[in-house]
Amino acid sequence: MRTPALDGGTPAFDANEAKALWPGTHPDELDGLRRVLDSGVWSRSRDSDWAGGEVGRFEAALGGYLGAEQVTATANGTVAIEFALAALGVGPGDEVIVPASTFFASVSPVVRLGAIPVFADIDPATFTISPASVAERVTSRTVGVLVVHLAGIPVDLDAIGELCARHSLFLVEDCAQALGSTWRGRQVGTFGDAGTFSFHQEKQLTAGEGGAVATRDPAVAGRVFAHHNGFWMRGAPKQDKHEVSTNGRLTPFQAAVLSARLPRLDEQVEHRAANAEALRAAVVDGVEQVTPLAATTRWSLFAVPFRVDPEQVSRDKLVEALSAEGVSAHEGHLDPVYRRPLFLDNPIDHRNDGCPEAERAADVTGFVISHKMFLGPRAWMTRLGEVLDELVSSGRVRP
Ligand SMILES: Cc1ncc(COP(=O)(O)O)c(C=O)c1O
Repeated sequence: MRTPALDGGTPAFDANEAKALWPGTHPDELDGLRRVLDSGVWSRSRDSDWAGGEVGRFEAALGGYLGAEQVTATANGTVAIEFALAALGVGPGDEVIVPASTFFASVSPVVRLGAIPVFADIDPATFTISPASVAERVTSRTVGVLVVHLAGIPVDLDAIGELCARHSLFLVEDCAQALGSTWRGRQVGTFGDAGTFSFHQEKQLTAGEGGAVATRDPAVAGRVFAHHNGFWMRGAPKQDKHEVSTNGRLTPFQAAVLSARLPRLDEQVEHRAANAEALRAAVVDGVEQVTPLAATTRWSLFAVPFRVDPEQVSRDKLVEALSAEGVSAHEGHLDPVYRRPLFLDNPIDHRNDGCPEAERAADVTGFVISHKMFLGPRAWMTRLGEVLDELVSSGRVRP
């Protein structure tokens, strides 16, 4: 048997090989950048044609891909969430239910608007927000629910959609990690009142930074537009200020890169999904791949989450051993946001009625492997399965 890298053996993977696969460049991107350079329109604010310019064309392309009527491109995924929430009228004192386990940026926009994040627990089957926990947290002050399709795994949109309709709550889908995932054949981000996206370097579609808000409601789209455009509502006289906000515009350079990459998205999504499927076949006793719910028709994975049986496997030892093997394994965004110093040490208004499943996933059962590994050749999956098996069956990662 191979000596684990942790004990001085040769790592199973060259970590730089997987890193080199992403973001990866293509001549179309250079053509797009050249086009923008030559056009002299480097800011959307200098574009006489909001809809037909470089950014407008990307919005239309993304809208076509998603099947979303209205898309506004933004500077990043964090402001996309803030603009969506602001457009839906979130303000001081409102309660917005959010998942405990997510990236901090899903929650900080709620706080920036003066609203109260109410943390809901996760479903241990998917590591995404639990509809039952959301139902328990609804009060007369609740205005909406912000769900996160963590790691690209769609939340239970049937249950959450029904719950929001029953209580007249808005639904915002944070799809920063999920562009391309579908639920019952429909793209995530098109179920709620708004869906938000991130085009950060690590995301499935990227221009280094960037984001978008999709919605079917023209009124919401109009307010998102005003929020992202330094207060000015589309079509209104420029001196009119309609919303107090910021400049959150995407640049034409970013739009050109995103437009060039969008046609390759599906192929990359399928490639990663097929590799994850292949790895699932190499199941190791005590380490289980987290799989999406049955109504998920496509999983655009941002990372592949795993669950260990803590009786058999120490999650921390396994993550350490995998990292030594050159595998990008880490705890993902499972650590409950309410355990961050901002919530623990500062008097930020929030509600946490206890999220034991989120804490258990963060502390003992959950970890993820980055999407980059899954863009590699199928042989990597075989090797990864073998490495997992060796580490567990040798007892090296026993609790
Ligand atoms: C779940 C989630 N929400 C929001 C964001 C914020 O996106 P951005 O980094 O583009 O601001 C990210 C990613 O960074 C994320 O993973």
